[in-house]
Amino acid sequence: MGLKQRIPFLRWSVWRMATGARNITTTGQIGDGREAAAVAYVLKNAKADDIDDVLAAIDRFAYEKSLLINVGDEKGKLLDAAVRRADPKLALELGTYCGYGALRIARAAPAAKVYSVELAEANAVNAREIWAHAGVADRVTCVVGTIGDGGRTLETLATEHGFTAGALDFLFLDHDKDAYLTDLQSIVDRGWLHPGSIVVADNVKVPGAPKYREYMRRQQGTLWNTNEHKAHLEYQSLISDLVLESEYLG
Ligand SMILES: C[S@@+](CC[C@H](N)C(=O)[O-])C[C@H]1O[C@@H](n2cnc3c(N)ncnc32)[C@H](O)[C@@H]1O
Repeated sequence: MGLKQRIPFLRWSVWRMATGARNITTTGQIGDGREAAAVAYVLKNAKADDIDDVLAAIDRFAYEKSLLINVGDEKGKLLDAAVRRADPKLALELGTYCGYGALRIARAAPAAKVYSVELAEANAVNAREIWAHAGVADRVTCVVGTIGDGGRTLETLATEHGFTAGALDFLFLDHDKDAYLTDLQSIVDRGWLHPGSIVVADNVKVPGAPKYREYMRRQQGTLWNTNEHKAHLEYQSLISDLVLESEYLG
C-alpha cells in the first residue's frame, strides 16, 4: 500500500495498541498476539525468498489487520535512503520487534551483515522466522540483549560478530527512546564508528527522544552532522514524527 493510501485518522487498532503500551515496555509486544499473527500472515501470504513481498505483506498486515510498531513504509523510505548513503558492510539495529526494520536495511544493503539487538526473546524468535522466509537468515542476526546490560551484549558483538574499531558503517536506533543517547555513547566509546558512519534515529518526536535531539543539535558540525527528516508516525498520516539522520564526523 502506498503513501497516498495512508489512513488519515487514528484507527481502532491504534487505540487498542495505546492500551497495550505498558505491555510493550515490559514484554516488547502489544499483548494481544498480533506479532505472532503477523508472522503467520507473512508465512501464508508472502512469497518465500522475496524481500519485497515479505515487507509488503508486513505493511499490509499493519494497515489492514493490526497496527505494528515497525518503522513502517513512510519512514522506512528515509531509512532505505540513509542505508544507501552509508553503503554499509556492517549494520546494527537496536530494537528488532518483528524484524521489519532489519529486513529493510538488508534490502537496501545487499552485501551487508545486519545485526539487531532485541530485549525480548519472543520478538527474536518471530523476527528470525520472518528473515528465514525472506531468505536473508544467513546475513541478518538477532542478538538477544541490550546495550545497557553492563557490557555483556557489547562484548558478544565484539567477540562473536566482528564488531571492531571502525567496522560499524550504519546504526539504526529504534528501541527504548530514553536509551538512545546513552547507548549511542557506549557504541562511540567502543570506537566502532568511523568518520562517515551514519546513525538513524526513529521516533525522535513521538514518543520522543528529546535528550538525543538536543545532543545532536549541540554537536552539529563538530562531532555530528544531522538532518532532521519530518515524517509521520508509522502507518498513519495524522501524527507527525521526526527521523534524525546523523553522520559521524569522528
Ligand atoms: C519500535 S520497536 C522496533 C521496530 C523495528 N526497529 C522495526 O522497524 O521493525 C522497539 C523494540 O525495541 C525493543 N526494546 C525496547 N527496549 C530495548 C532495549 N533497551 N534494548 C533492546 N531492545 C529494546 C522492544 O522489545 C521492541 O521490540
